[in-house]
Amino acid sequence: MTTPATPRPPVNLDWSTLGFSYIRTDERYLSHWRGGQWDSGQLTLDNVLHISEGSTALHYGQQCFEGLKAYRAADGSVNLFRPDQNAARMQESCRRVLMPEVSTEQFIDACRQVVRANDHWIPPYGTGGALYLRPYVIGVGDNIGVRSAPEFLFGVFAIPVGAYFKGGLTPHNFITSGYDRAAPHGTGAAKVGGNYAASLLPGFEAKERHFADAIYLDPATHTKIEEVGAANFFAITKDGQTFVTPKSPSILPSITKYSLLHLAEHRLGLKVVEGDVYIDRLGEYSEAGACGTAAVITPIGGIQHGDRFHVFHSETQVGPVTRRLYDELTGIQFGDRPAPEGWLVKV
Ligand SMILES: Cc1ncc(COP(=O)(O)O)c(C=O)c1O
Repeated sequence: MTTPATPRPPVNLDWSTLGFSYIRTDERYLSHWRGGQWDSGQLTLDNVLHISEGSTALHYGQQCFEGLKAYRAADGSVNLFRPDQNAARMQESCRRVLMPEVSTEQFIDACRQVVRANDHWIPPYGTGGALYLRPYVIGVGDNIGVRSAPEFLFGVFAIPVGAYFKGGLTPHNFITSGYDRAAPHGTGAAKVGGNYAASLLPGFEAKERHFADAIYLDPATHTKIEEVGAANFFAITKDGQTFVTPKSPSILPSITKYSLLHLAEHRLGLKVVEGDVYIDRLGEYSEAGACGTAAVITPIGGIQHGDRFHVFHSETQVGPVTRRLYDELTGIQFGDRPAPEGWLVKV
């Protein structure tokens, strides 16, 4: 057990250089599922879970999680970006690994409570940082057989974060992996820990070779791009007219990606295509990027595939369409540009 002393942000915390690392903030939310329902949940200062050694989350990967951000706007108010979409995706993930769903209402209420309780940890407007929220559901309780857990925990904690890949909107290079993060009819579309365990070694190998992360190809044929580390992939065709992003049942449906798809069509006037992106036809695209809550938009400078290295727009400069998408998305998130109906939830 820990002593629940309240941590306060160090006065010298440099908001503008925050990365993506665990920082213990003040309060987190916990709800317990017992006897067929979630309790009403409460905030706690304790950042350590006390769970049975037989918990299915520990042995059989019966768990799932989410990631979303709270953004400080110029007027001091705080925006959650599309939390209903994270709630819906977590419900899908729970169904896939046989866990009870958390209602959208409870999910958003828990996020709001955690943001309010950690208000002074939200990076100020203008620093580019945000408060990252990590909701999760885990199977707990005394058990040893491969079956669903007798009890579950739903938690949400918060961490102030900056750039996931160093340097913000600067291009990074990636390398295709020979490993798969998910199977063709497996759990790739669910945000479950097993997919991430499978990605640790390929990610480590990519970084050892000085790439930002691994690119996963489709697990059935290894000919098409699926994911970029823990982010989705998009590309812009050579004529600058079409936003293309892969479609596959083993890709995690990124909320950022679907938001960009909408903005590309309705704000930038581009055509949008969800389809195949063949790894040996990268010459069809002038720009490419990785997108996700953590990665925001990370321009892809080049991709190493076997002994070939393909450069898109530039290894050092962001392309014009990628920049417009980034400005539009982040402008909405921080409340500087009008948001499509229902995208922002005030805390
Ligand atoms: C494997 C994977 N793909 C894509 C994403 C991006 O999804 P989102 O935009 O909803 O954060 C994430 C992060 O959540 C991820 O872990």
